[in-house]
Amino acid sequence: MRSRTLRGAAVAAGLCVLTSAQPALAAPVDHGKPRYSAGAPSVGDPYFPDEGNGGFDVRHYDIAFSYDPAAKRMDATTTITAVATQDLDQFDLDFRGPDISSLTIDRHPAAFRREGQELIVTPRPKLKAGTSFTVIVKYAGTPPVITDPDDSIEGWVPTEDGAFVPGEPQGSPAWYPGSDHPTDKATFTFHATVPEALTAVGNGQLLSQRTSNGRTTFVWDSTEPMATYLATVTIGKFQVAQSATRSGIPIYTAVDPQLASRSAATVARIPDIIEYFSSIFGPYPFASAGAIIDRAPDVGYALESQTKPIFSSAPDLSTMAHEIAHQWYGDSVSLGRWSDIWLNEGFATYAEWIWTEHNGGATAQQTFDSAGNYGRAATSAFWQTVTTDPGPVDMFGNVPYDRGAMTLHALRGKIGDAAFFRLLKEWAAKHRYGNVSTADFVREAQKVSGMDLRSFFDVWLFQKGKPSAW
Ligand code: ARG
Ligand code: ZN
Repeated sequence: MRSRTLRGAAVAAGLCVLTSAQPALAAPVDHGKPRYSAGAPSVGDPYFPDEGNGGFDVRHYDIAFSYDPAAKRMDATTTITAVATQDLDQFDLDFRGPDISSLTIDRHPAAFRREGQELIVTPRPKLKAGTSFTVIVKYAGTPPVITDPDDSIEGWVPTEDGAFVPGEPQGSPAWYPGSDHPTDKATFTFHATVPEALTAVGNGQLLSQRTSNGRTTFVWDSTEPMATYLATVTIGKFQVAQSATRSGIPIYTAVDPQLASRSAATVARIPDIIEYFSSIFGPYPFASAGAIIDRAPDVGYALESQTKPIFSSAPDLSTMAHEIAHQWYGDSVSLGRWSDIWLNEGFATYAEWIWTEHNGGATAQQTFDSAGNYGRAATSAFWQTVTTDPGPVDMFGNVPYDRGAMTLHALRGKIGDAAFFRLLKEWAAKHRYGNVSTADFVREAQKVSGMDLRSFFDVWLFQKGKPSAW
C-alpha cells in the first residue's frame, strides 16, 4: 500500500523512481494531484483470500431490515460510512447476500457488479483520499447459509422460529455488505423488524423496541469497534431477562423457552464470570453484556458475538466462560490475520481452565496434565500441527484451542504468576479495540518477564512435535 503511494507520487512528480532521492517514508498523499485507482479486492489473508478490501476504512454500519421467518425473506438497507485511504475510482465490498435493487454513494447512484463475494462498485464522482463517504445498499431475498472449509455452517441460518446468525470466519457477507476482515472494525447500529411474537437480538445496547401492525422493530447500538464476524441479529421466540453485574454492566439474556430450564444454572453465573475475569484480565471492555441461547442443532457450536455470545444449544458453564473470555481476547483484542487464531482460542480455552479452578473444579495444572492435553502421546497427530498455522480447515480444531491453552499454562510456569497475570492484563489494555499478531505477543511476554523466551515459544508455537523441555 505504502509503496504504491510512493511510486504514484514519484511518477506524478515526473521523477524516475529508481533515481529519485530517498523518499521520506511517511510521504503525504498529494491531495492536489489525484491519481485514482481501484482499491485492493481483499486484504490478502491467505486463509480467506477474498476477505476484506483495500482503499477505504469502514467507520460505521447501519443495518436496517425486516425479516419474515415463514418466507425466509429479508428486505434490507445497509448504510456504510467509510473513509477513503487512497484516491478511488473503484472499490470492492464483500457481499454474498440476495439481489441488490439499488446502490448509491453519497446519494449518487453507482454502477456495480458482482463476482463471487466481491461487490465491485464505481463511485462517480470519484473519491479523494481522506474523504468520508456513505454507501447505501438495498437488497431483498433469502440470505444464504455459508459452509466453511471445516464443513461447519454459518451466515444466516434459519431456525424453527427465526434465524441463528454466526459469522466466524466468513459469514457476515451473507446478510450485509462490508469489509469482512477483523482488521477493519467499525461501530454498528441495527434496526430489525420481525413478527411481534419474536425478538431480534443484536450486539450492544437496546435503544428502542416498538410494535405496530403486528411487527416489532428492535434498535440495537454496538458502540465500541467490532469485527464484522462478531455481528449478529439472532431472531426467535425468546425469554428475555435484564439484570446487571455488581459493578453495573447491564446484562441482556435471550433464551429459547425450550432451553430455559436446562440453561438457567449457567445463565445465573454470567455476572460471576464477568466479575472474575475482570479481576484477572482488567475491566470488561464493552458497555453491555449478555447471551443468546437458541436451538440451531445444525450449527452445533457457540460464538463470541460481541457483547452477546450466541449458543446453538443450552451451554455448559465452561462454554459460557469461554465465550465471555473472548470478549477480552478475540473481540476487544482482535486478530490481524486468521492464522493467529490461537490468540483467540488458546486464551479463551485457558480462561475456561482458570474459571474451572476458581469455581472449585480441576486445577489448571490438572487440566494441562490430563489425557486430552499434555497427556497425549508424543506420536499423536495432535502434535504434528504448528500452533500458529493450523490452516483454514483446522482453525477451530483442537490445536489452537488446547495446545494454545497449554502454551499459556507453560508460559505461566516459565515466567511465574506475577509476570504472567501482569501480561494478560497488559495485553488486554494495550491492544484494546486493536489488532494483534503472535509476534506482538512474544515481544510483550519478553518485555513483561524480562526473559529471553525465544526457545520457549519456538517449541510451543512454531515447531511441530510434543515439547519435552522449555
Ligand atoms: N470462535 C468460536 C468459539 O470458539 C468457534 C467458531 C467456530 N466456527 C466455525 N465456523 N466452525 O467459541
Ligand atoms: Zn472460542
